[in-house]
Amino acid sequence: MKPKVSIILTSYNKPDTVHLAIESVLAQKYDNWELLIMDDHSNDKTKRIIKGFLQDSRIQYFDSGIRDEDRHKTTRYATLINEALEKVSGDYISYLTDDDIYLPERLSEMTTILNNSPSYGVVYSKQLVRKIDQSGRTVYEKVRETNGILTKPQNLVDHCSVMHRASLLPLILAKYGSYWDDSPEYWHNGDAAFWARLAEWSPFYPIPKVLDICLKTPDSFQELNAFMPKELPTGLVVLSTNENTFLIDGNIRRKIDEAVFRMLKYDRKQLVKVHDPLLYQYREGAPIEKSVFSNAKLFPNYRFIKCGKSIFYTEGGCARPIESADALRRLKADLKDFILVAPDMLEDFQIGKPISRTFDQKNPIPEGKLFLYKRHFFISGNGELKPMEAKVLRKLKYDKSLAIPLSKYEFASFPKGESLKWEVVRWKDKN
Ligand code: TYD
Ligand code: MG
Repeated sequence: MKPKVSIILTSYNKPDTVHLAIESVLAQKYDNWELLIMDDHSNDKTKRIIKGFLQDSRIQYFDSGIRDEDRHKTTRYATLINEALEKVSGDYISYLTDDDIYLPERLSEMTTILNNSPSYGVVYSKQLVRKIDQSGRTVYEKVRETNGILTKPQNLVDHCSVMHRASLLPLILAKYGSYWDDSPEYWHNGDAAFWARLAEWSPFYPIPKVLDICLKTPDSFQELNAFMPKELPTGLVVLSTNENTFLIDGNIRRKIDEAVFRMLKYDRKQLVKVHDPLLYQYREGAPIEKSVFSNAKLFPNYRFIKCGKSIFYTEGGCARPIESADALRRLKADLKDFILVAPDMLEDFQIGKPISRTFDQKNPIPEGKLFLYKRHFFISGNGELKPMEAKVLRKLKYDKSLAIPLSKYEFASFPKGESLKWEVVRWKDKN
């Protein structure tokens, strides 16, 4: 009897590539496998595609049903893999993501080596890495090489290039209490953390052939997360992977309805795509839809409004009068950015502190705006100026030319918040 391979496919909202991963399993020359599709509650489009493959009895499908607001709490693929490892029945274990393609000989090559070398616990192969753009065209390709027998495989071997014996799993569970470490700080390195555990029982033996193709897609977690700060600045307008738009307002996210997007002078070019585990950490607030034009309480913050000759900036649920032409010039607001509101609607607004041509405690800086002091950029929010790294500024699509310069006095008048910076926690050996 040929050994059985359990393949664990983790999936989340990759309708353009997930079928390639599944088809690549069905196209294997080696046929004794089971495929566990661990779907992290994908959108309907993705689910429909996956469900088209479920008639093959070797394929099992599980939907995590995760609530979006819980998504950030663990490294989701590690959590899903741990659930799958409770269900597998194979002799060998192999991991697959929804943007990776196994070459047809992957399982046969890997199982042959493991069958012939009983002392090998883990094998790994070369991988072709292919970056693709939104329309699936190749941007570049490179080969991730094998590097001999590895005793420290962390960060050297990809998630989808490994096969290991199932017999190692109870040893890992007994020592660590879990298989994969799903702590949320290791989204970038969850595989590295598990490879370190595996390597305690077996080195990684190389198979110097390309056996899978890793697609780097524009919406992948790492791509979206690159240069993204852990905290989103207030006033930012973002796009989810499901293509919904949201206003970030403090710790709240408000969905912006398509029908009012343009009426509220939002600009598609300014939208920043963010990954769902980050976006859904923000509590859901009242949606921004037609009703905002008849109820000042629902009107979004961080907009310019006008009524007759009076102009305002909305903030903290109030309308802050823009006192003079000088004040308007300082804000670098264009009159075409102003949203016309009816007089009875304006009456409905609470009037906030004025915005004048200089900022101080009585006339505080407007929130959700970009400021400049001595060539450093700051974002205002919560009464503070938060420094922002240049690469974060670019990632969030702020226009530097619209930054409002501050005088020394003004800069000194407001407390400084925590810096919005970009950080990745690398997996480190805890021992
Ligand atoms: P992916 O977006 O491909 O990230 P990377 O840039 O690191 O390649 O996601 C990696 C895996 O994580 C993929 O198999 C899908 C899974 N995943 C979830 O299960 N749940 C989620 O919420 C997210 C964002 C990803
Ligand atoms: Mg990926």
